[in-house]
Amino acid sequence: MIVTRPPMGWNSWNTFAANIDETLIKQIADKMVDEGYLDCGYEYLVIDDCWSEHQRDERGRLVPDHVKFPNGMKALADYVHSKGLKFGIYSCVGNYTCAGYPASFEYEFIDAEIFAEWGIDYLKLDYCYKPQSEEGAKLYRRMGLALANCGRDIVLSACSWGADETHRWIKSTGSHLWRSTGDIFDNFESVKTLYNIQKGIFEYNGQGCFNDMDMLIVGMSGKGHVGCENCCTTEEYRTHFSIWSFFGSPLMIGSDIRNQTPETKAILQNKEVIAVDQDAAYRQPYLLMSNPSGADVWVRHMENGDILFGFFNMGDHEVGFPISFTDLGLNRSTGVVLKLRDLWKGEELGTFEDIFVTGVPAHTSKLIRAKLIKK
Ligand code: GLA
Repeated sequence: MIVTRPPMGWNSWNTFAANIDETLIKQIADKMVDEGYLDCGYEYLVIDDCWSEHQRDERGRLVPDHVKFPNGMKALADYVHSKGLKFGIYSCVGNYTCAGYPASFEYEFIDAEIFAEWGIDYLKLDYCYKPQSEEGAKLYRRMGLALANCGRDIVLSACSWGADETHRWIKSTGSHLWRSTGDIFDNFESVKTLYNIQKGIFEYNGQGCFNDMDMLIVGMSGKGHVGCENCCTTEEYRTHFSIWSFFGSPLMIGSDIRNQTPETKAILQNKEVIAVDQDAAYRQPYLLMSNPSGADVWVRHMENGDILFGFFNMGDHEVGFPISFTDLGLNRSTGVVLKLRDLWKGEELGTFEDIFVTGVPAHTSKLIRAKLIKK
């Protein structure tokens, strides 16, 4: 199975942690469809940690928590599928999940079989309680093989947080996406940290195995489980979403979509920005300019021939950027001018020759898409 676009969906962890049950998951499934998320591409509904009983059954099989999921996972998967969505679940390569539930170490083939039986489409596989003597690469490879042989297409979402130089071996495991960073928290410092880590490993991202910058915090606003001393402003959430989309990260919503503000929805459902994330080519971005205060300009060439500019100001002061088209290889001799569109404003900015100058206020971003026009 080959995954050609960064997966998109919703994951229970950021907001609900252990407080998950069948009613909640069904409500989320309904909202993903009724509120237009599925239409935008958010198709995976993923239950994170804390879904099982603390003991396997007598045949060594994982058992869904009887109180939280009284009808079991097959029935819930059927419901999720009936909505046109795909269904995801969670385990770990170690002996226990991060929250202390039974996990897949040396049960990989049994677990893959039951996940297939339940109709699971996506497995997030975490890295907690890994026996020290075991190599992480080997354990992800073992689950990769178990899934590839289970008779069902199941996306493998590795979650080793970039540990043990994950980027060096993850593509050998059969994982389709891999957490390239530690856990996200609901504040701008955390977004900045994950961005800085990504700057060191973005070259590894690409079709088949995407760098996963972690679940989105857009719209959490203090309501979740991932901390909030200085939760992000709407503008900062927009910057976070711009960065994830620019770098082609999977987009897994972490906030409660049952009660979203119009501002949050407008960020998560901006189709032009999502199209950036989902661009069919996923060409490697390159860094065009940087300002020492923490502001960068990146460029990505899009599948249809457009050029995309990502302006990310992580610093505390406004920065002005003069973009010389010569630096893009578009010397005057090419006879090319650029017709620019601001994707967040949804506005045409006009046609520019030789240079484009723009200011980027602190903590904000701009995504500007350019069409190449022959003069
Ligand atoms: C780890 C992962 C998180 C989440 C929790 C669940 O911290 O990185 O994304 O899955 O475990 O316990």
